[in-house]
Amino acid sequence: MNILVIGGGGREHAIVWSLAKSSRVQKLYCAPGNAGIAQLAECVPIGVMAFDELVRFAKDKAIDLVVVGPDDPLAAGIVDAFEAAGIPAFGPNKAAAEIEGSKIFMKHLLRKYDIPTARYETFDDYETALAYLRKQQPPIVVKADGLAAGKGVTVARTMEEAEEALRGMMIDRVFGASGTRVVIEEYLEGQEMSILSFVDGMAVRPMVPAQDHKPVFDGDRGPNTGGMGTYTPLPHIDPAVIEEAIERIIKPTAAAMVKEGRPFRGVLFAGLMVTKDGPKVIEFNARMGDPETQVVLPRLRSDLLDIILAAMDGKLDQAAIEWSDDAAVCVILASEGYPGSYPKGIPIEGIDKAEAAGALVFHAGTALKDGGFVTNGGRVLGVVGRGRDIEEARNRAYEACGLIRFEGMHYRKDIAAKALAAKNG
Ligand code: AMP
Ligand code: GLY
Repeated sequence: MNILVIGGGGREHAIVWSLAKSSRVQKLYCAPGNAGIAQLAECVPIGVMAFDELVRFAKDKAIDLVVVGPDDPLAAGIVDAFEAAGIPAFGPNKAAAEIEGSKIFMKHLLRKYDIPTARYETFDDYETALAYLRKQQPPIVVKADGLAAGKGVTVARTMEEAEEALRGMMIDRVFGASGTRVVIEEYLEGQEMSILSFVDGMAVRPMVPAQDHKPVFDGDRGPNTGGMGTYTPLPHIDPAVIEEAIERIIKPTAAAMVKEGRPFRGVLFAGLMVTKDGPKVIEFNARMGDPETQVVLPRLRSDLLDIILAAMDGKLDQAAIEWSDDAAVCVILASEGYPGSYPKGIPIEGIDKAEAAGALVFHAGTALKDGGFVTNGGRVLGVVGRGRDIEEARNRAYEACGLIRFEGMHYRKDIAAKALAAKNG
């Protein structure tokens, strides 16, 4: 089969890496891809939002299946565009992708179907929102309704911070139209976990759970990023809680989408908080996570293409989906200044050494220059160590990070520390 993967980050490198292992794949393309993906697939310089050009390319190359990575094209209807041209595409259509594209849609859905989430109110008028906000007790969470590159959420510790966030979204429009409507919601306390599931309508097949680290610095300090590292499994979270999340949250959400006439096909990503009252929804994403994918797919023993094809055929419930018992830890190596502005084109050394040491190195933002890898994004590489348990996987990941360098490189030193602390404490 000829396959086209849409996207060009670490998640897409992991997807391409996993698909490349399938015997049924004849030719793999990735648009736009990156320098790491180019080692496994033919990269085509078409942007993820250039639907007409992508559809034309897919027709030209007789693409049998498109796999969409990022959220923006899903929210804008890329799957609908391919389907209209008769090309099968794995991912939710525009109506189903709204579960990520509009936090207000998502929150109302959960309220309607009694699915556990933080208490909330929604607003489209600044004065009303401000008056409500001032009656709340911090910490309190202010969220822009629409997509905002992972930055539209403020967990405010003080009322000043909350008011500033609200003003930024609704008056200064720092996230453009995404902030014309907002959600103000209760602060949830607990451990976070991400559960990604293959979904086709009512059929839900959860993947192994993972935990992300959003803030840029150790100890969860500093501004939020797209994600600085992940690990799986979560030995410190009771398997009964994971089961409860699947039965009480993820399956009912898939069913609710069917009832709403928006059946979801693709990967549904539940961002959950394990509170003292059980798991609750923080967010849903309509796609695989980045960098969750970089630790989850290495544990997949079954053929990813077979699973996707089963979902496309409405046979997901019958698909064989097996996971390894190992652990995986991903550490993101970021550019100087990230998540703020950062330089590009800085030479990277040592990727080959890290790979020779057994690590998987997924490229997030790299390019080729004069035959060598250079930086080309804020998140540059995801270095994945694997082992029998978190401790071993983590040691291997950090050893491999020590073999890679580029000027200004920074990374968190405490990825998966929460799992180890829980185990040792
Ligand atoms: P999101 O962009 O929706 O993933 O939110 C970014 C981060 O903000 C999440 O990963 C959580 O750590 C935090 N967060 C979002 N909503 C809440 C909430 N209601 N309570 C506590 N933390 C939250
Ligand atoms: N790692 C969080 C996300 O992909 O949204």
